[in-house]
Amino acid sequence: MQDFKAARRPLSMMSAALLLPAMLMVPTLSAHAGGPSEPKIVGGEKAAPGEFPWQVALLDAEIEDNAKAQTCGGSLIAPNWVLTAAHCVYDGKKAVPASSVDVLGGTNSLKKGGTRVAVDAIIIHPRWGKKKGSEEDDIALLRLAEPLKDGVKVVPLVTRAQEVELTAAGKLATVSGWGDTEIEGEQAPTDLRKVQVPIITNRVCNGKDAYDGAIKPKMLCAGLAAGGKDSCQGDSGGPMVVSNGKKRFALAGVVSWGEGCADPNKYGVYTRVSRYATWIEKVMAKPEKPGKPEKPEKPGKPGKPGKPE
Ligand code: ARG
Repeated sequence: MQDFKAARRPLSMMSAALLLPAMLMVPTLSAHAGGPSEPKIVGGEKAAPGEFPWQVALLDAEIEDNAKAQTCGGSLIAPNWVLTAAHCVYDGKKAVPASSVDVLGGTNSLKKGGTRVAVDAIIIHPRWGKKKGSEEDDIALLRLAEPLKDGVKVVPLVTRAQEVELTAAGKLATVSGWGDTEIEGEQAPTDLRKVQVPIITNRVCNGKDAYDGAIKPKMLCAGLAAGGKDSCQGDSGGPMVVSNGKKRFALAGVVSWGEGCADPNKYGVYTRVSRYATWIEKVMAKPEKPGKPEKPEKPGKPGKPGKPE
């Protein structure tokens, strides 16, 4: 069988895939070459201008053309902070250099408009990649070199207190992204797309026909038992939002993984954002230097490793 993953993924990113079950994770930091075997944000439609003002695209900083450079999605959670998936910015051992990633915000189109800014720090969740073969803690923060202003809006996170209500089974969630649009065709989408999918309980998602135990409490599943609607390759890192009252949205999930796309019982799996509020706040308050362990605040007090959330 031809390994189309290898063909699409820059070499430096290959190692990330090795850590993850090949069946589950498909190309991420690959620039979108588009390919005949790539399904789309399945069952979705084009997003309206300004409908997802928190949506950003992660770009390969070395590629000038936004459409060719797009690797993943992300969500603007503060004017200079983007939440994304760890696997989007991981080289298999550590975060990729901040200088290798740009962020595009303020546009639905990868062809025109928007503002492209540099990233000056990448902070991957400390527990990502620690457990072999596990996709747990697939979450990372990008600090932007300058805040995004034009045409953007930050999205609030679903809090721990809101979790039960806002992410109850059956609630409709909306996922957006620039994942490839054609099952057969060369065309990668340059316009942002969206799809609505119902949230599923972790119990159902762990069913024998579904993921049979691979779903951890800090993951969130959404999709249809019959399949047909899902996020897909290239949507990773991007937002899953839920309604929080009239015309208000909150970020419930980060596109993480799935077996295939939109197949029956193979729901989309998302990082459950509400479980990471403490870590996110801590990083945004005082981002650690990537690669350097955090120093204890006061002498005499041993530095504690980030406690699991
Ligand atoms: N890992 C994929 C990416 O990097 C996202 C997969 C989402 N898959 C799914 N069936 N919902 O783009």
